[in-house]
Amino acid sequence: MVCVVISGGQWGDEGKAKITDLLSDKADFIVRYQGGANAGHTVSTKEGLFKFHLIPSGILFDNKTCIIGPGTVIEPGFLINEIENLKKQGINLQGLKISGLAHITMPWHIDIDKAADTVGSTGKGIGPTYTDKAKRHGIQLHDLLSEKTLREKLQRVLPKQNQALQKIHNLNAYSEDEIVEKYLKYGEFFKPYLGDVINDLYKARKDEKNILFEGAQGTLLDITFGSYPYVTSSTPVSGGACVGSGVGPTIIDKSIGVFKCFSTRVGDGPFPSELAYDSQEAIKLRQDGTQWAEFGTTTGRMRRVGWFDAVLAKYAVRVNSFTGIALTKLDTLDSFDEINICIAYLNKETGEMIQELPYASSSLLSQCEPVFQSFPGWNELIHGSKSWDSLPSKAQKYVELISRTLETPVNIVSTGPDREHSIFLDDIF
Ligand code: GDP
Ligand code: IMO
Ligand code: MG
Repeated sequence: MVCVVISGGQWGDEGKAKITDLLSDKADFIVRYQGGANAGHTVSTKEGLFKFHLIPSGILFDNKTCIIGPGTVIEPGFLINEIENLKKQGINLQGLKISGLAHITMPWHIDIDKAADTVGSTGKGIGPTYTDKAKRHGIQLHDLLSEKTLREKLQRVLPKQNQALQKIHNLNAYSEDEIVEKYLKYGEFFKPYLGDVINDLYKARKDEKNILFEGAQGTLLDITFGSYPYVTSSTPVSGGACVGSGVGPTIIDKSIGVFKCFSTRVGDGPFPSELAYDSQEAIKLRQDGTQWAEFGTTTGRMRRVGWFDAVLAKYAVRVNSFTGIALTKLDTLDSFDEINICIAYLNKETGEMIQELPYASSSLLSQCEPVFQSFPGWNELIHGSKSWDSLPSKAQKYVELISRTLETPVNIVSTGPDREHSIFLDDIF
């Protein structure tokens, strides 16, 4: 049995879904442990392009159990769409199991997220849903199975929500009956998918099964460790796999950090190694016009881009205890004469040089100016390469440099969006 956590080392969109799909072949269970429909995960296979928001990227393989865990938040209509779209694409969803502990994004959460957003959120109601979870005002998936329970919960929370909607946001209120009718139907829809995922994972461990935990978002969007307050509202770091799934840390064997070989960010907040939006380098890094161009899968927003930030990546290695790295999109650097890496920060206010960042809050990051070191690019096509030996030596050196700087082995190099565009430097399972 091997238990592996896959989590994002940067600001999300590192290619976690590609890596999860790649490793799912040998996994028996694939578990999404946090976040909600804010995530946009793309997997490219010979059968087509698949987009996931909540469903684990392992679902493309038959005979796997794919779990939407207790730490996630679910907008039922959105998840039903995701399920129906995958069915239309011929995907078998029999292996899908959902925890009744997941919190439900109610319509007022989306209204409030859109009306009161201050961080450039995805507008999917994520922040308000987790806020209500913490305030003990949340509604969970298992509450949608009983009219009595749902009404009791709504009677506790709906008057307060309506008051906020009307008085603070000047929006319409919701009626209890309207919500009960709609959400009991959602409960019926999800009944066949509900499962005792805590017990399933306990048994999986006893039966020596391989388990893969799939993170959403990334370290710098983590509510505790990210560039607060420009973060999401959950715990994307590897430790979140335990609290979001219902297992303890003793079962985790490996923690793989997925990093792009440059940086991207969607939404607001500091980004020290960012390149000017219309600079030649940014345009090349965004790869506009390709299937893997840098725009958000969930919101369609263009992603901000910049060079690889080793200061933040080293910080991510520390807070996640990564045992290995999956380095993605190496092919994006194919046409550069020169590649930069941010190796330190200059704190503009104190004059201090920072190599080991103590924390990544936006107050500190916004004082930091990047110090770049440049390296010769390989300037040749490696897109789709499948072996280490076929990489130009300059590309190998770039990967080795990242590994050395992060003091962590690079286990996988990704050279394109497809499963086959991958180089395994170590076995994971
Ligand atoms: P996630 O949110 O971390 O799962 O990442 P996304 O799916 O949002 O974004 C990653 C994008 O890059 C997707 O379009 C992938 O198909 C694509 N991708 C992943 N790895 C590679 C790679 O090595 N090279 C290229 N060119 N595209 C990749
Ligand atoms: P995946 O799983 C990139 C960003 C939003 C915003 C901030 C807060 O595809 O990597 P939220 O809606 O969560 O309250 O928004 O977090 N964000 C992401 N950025 N990838 C994601 O997910 C993201 N999920 C949220 O753009 O800046
Ligand atoms: Mg994404």
